[in-house]
Amino acid sequence: MGITYFEQERIFKLDTASTSYLIGIVDEENFPGHIYYGKRITDHRLGHLLRVEEPPFVPSRNAGERVSFLDTFATEYPTHGVGDYREAALKIRTKDGHRACGLHYVSHEIFEGKKKIPGLPTSFAGESGCSTIEIVCVDKHLNLKVILSYCVFEKEDVITRHVAVENDGSEEFFIEKAASMSIDMDNRDFEMLTLHGSWARERHKQRRKLGIGYQGTSSGRGESSHQNHPFMALMTENCTWDQGEIYGVQMMYSGNFDMQAEVNQFNCVRWQAGIGTKDFCWKLAPGETFYTPEALLTYSAEGIDKMTANYHEFIRNHVLRGKYKDKKRPILINNWEATYFAFDTEKLLSIAKQAAGLGIEMLVMDDGWFGKRNLDNCSLGDWQVNEQKLPGGLSYLVDEVNKLGMKFGIWFEPEMVSPDSDLYREHPDWAIAVPGRTPGMVRTQYVLDFSRKEVVDNIWNQMELVLKSANVEYVKWDMNRPLSDLGSAVLEPERQGELAHRYMLGVYELQERLVTNFPDVLLENCSGGGARFDAGMLYYSPQIWCSDDTDAIERLAIQEGTAMIYPLSTMGAHISDCPNHAVGRTTPFETRGYVALAGTFGYELDVTRIPDKDREMIPDQVALYHKYNDLVREGDYYRLESYQDNHLFDCWQVVSKDKKESLVTWIQVLGGPSRHSRVVRLKGLAPDKRYRIEGEDMVLTGDSLMYAGICMPVMSGDFLGKLVHLVQE
Ligand code: GLA
Repeated sequence: MGITYFEQERIFKLDTASTSYLIGIVDEENFPGHIYYGKRITDHRLGHLLRVEEPPFVPSRNAGERVSFLDTFATEYPTHGVGDYREAALKIRTKDGHRACGLHYVSHEIFEGKKKIPGLPTSFAGESGCSTIEIVCVDKHLNLKVILSYCVFEKEDVITRHVAVENDGSEEFFIEKAASMSIDMDNRDFEMLTLHGSWARERHKQRRKLGIGYQGTSSGRGESSHQNHPFMALMTENCTWDQGEIYGVQMMYSGNFDMQAEVNQFNCVRWQAGIGTKDFCWKLAPGETFYTPEALLTYSAEGIDKMTANYHEFIRNHVLRGKYKDKKRPILINNWEATYFAFDTEKLLSIAKQAAGLGIEMLVMDDGWFGKRNLDNCSLGDWQVNEQKLPGGLSYLVDEVNKLGMKFGIWFEPEMVSPDSDLYREHPDWAIAVPGRTPGMVRTQYVLDFSRKEVVDNIWNQMELVLKSANVEYVKWDMNRPLSDLGSAVLEPERQGELAHRYMLGVYELQERLVTNFPDVLLENCSGGGARFDAGMLYYSPQIWCSDDTDAIERLAIQEGTAMIYPLSTMGAHISDCPNHAVGRTTPFETRGYVALAGTFGYELDVTRIPDKDREMIPDQVALYHKYNDLVREGDYYRLESYQDNHLFDCWQVVSKDKKESLVTWIQVLGGPSRHSRVVRLKGLAPDKRYRIEGEDMVLTGDSLMYAGICMPVMSGDFLGKLVHLVQE
């Protein structure tokens, strides 16, 4: 068990394989304090780090400086309004409009395994197990109970945190903020690493130094978003891929989030992550409990690569579920970039016929098969097959595809409604809107009010009918606009601030129904590309469409940022046609294949119309996928070079768990004159084992490959790539 309580010292020690986390209870009033998080240590008697023997001392010794104490104490879960002027983790407003709140420890419970958080995606114990501590704190004046949960995943060096807020009184109060985690520690010249972008440019990394005051990243769009990602790391200045210290946090949540670091007057950092506070206010009636989503914390003393490894293992072992989680995914061909809305059964079958002959295993019919949708301006919400486009209905099409030996998949956008749809005409109040005010549109569509059970039920009934009407083996679940004009026709005025979170709970509920009722269906989440790529969504779908940008070069930065915290097996990546539809660039078909091999791998093009020389390459690409996918999916991933940093080339590596095999992918972006080859030092190999480099007359030991390296060639031309496959002798 990774959790120990030392009663005499009143200290909790949480240990993973390489990290320790210590919490101490101080003073007669039982203030919960944060002692330490970092590299694993032996001792628990570290109460001195809470500095309670320094002025302003604890309130029982120096009542005249109570506020000063609260404003400096390293607090495990800080509250608002009683003297801690740093950002609170918990903000409560009473019915009378007061905001003062203070938490005091009363009891705790330690147990093996972990509880499911009601309604929310929750990491689970899995085979490697975990242990939990629940620390109960109260504010007696408010009759408020707060349960701080910490789950310790020893093997993966991950500690997850979430909080339950209970109203034990007889009057309602309002939660204005309830973060999932808060940590106070001394600033060691930390830098902050976050991921940002836009549509078609997701998860580009950004690194900057912490300054005094408040800095962070957040989403108020109702989705985890293209723009800011629910991940933030604090790292020491010397932190690189393989050395230095880094603390990571990511949210297992897909809606609004806030993450921040606040540096105070004493150069201490308060680091927080949780549900977004923009537009948020939750009324908690007597007897009710509010659960925050989970925050996933990890720490590495060996640079970014180790943080990445911890997150990859954690997500693989404790987040991904279902039949496909550890399995090779069928190679799909999606018709979106091939046809957009202009398709019918005949067109789809012509694509499928060609594709089947080339080794592609599944046809995915994207947007445009339902209602009267021939453009993006109508029919969302009317999930009935358009028989004009698909004569004989879905079952005819699917049967024909199956006869070719291929599986069939389909696209939905369940959370949306077009103003021009039967659903909207029948239920205009089902769209999220402020009564009496016309909501703004994006892509000519509104968002359905998924806080309402009848709305979720209606969409479910429609989806279920479609999925039962034919042999559908894959669903792409899309979400193509952020929320705006927040208003629900049924929530009472005091609960309107709950809408964005209740909406997410409705989305999770529908995804859970889908995966429970259709356990054999492979679900791929998507949100205008990658606006909802997060650990919350990964609980339901083992893969997520990474970006609408399928250009091999643009994908380098997108996939680097994504792979920094998510396993390669989760990254939806396809080969598309050129000039690329997002950026107009032409790259070699071969290079597009190398980049897609780093993810789920598939095609997104009209295979009947691409150049013959490209089509002829498909069987070889398919063979590469079959050869390398086990390694890519299950292996350890390392970053060797970053095009985002050097503006010249990109390079990553995967190594099998038994270190018997490794694959290095090298992409040279622009060709240039007067260059040397580049020596790249490999990682993760067995230093004393000999590796044969496939196709080259070279056998080298792991130590030479890792410490001396190999030369990556200068190639003549732009956007070129090379795979280096190493096999242990
Ligand atoms: C989004 C998705 C695309 C495609 C379209 C269809 O943009 O990211 O892959 O499915 O919607 O409208």
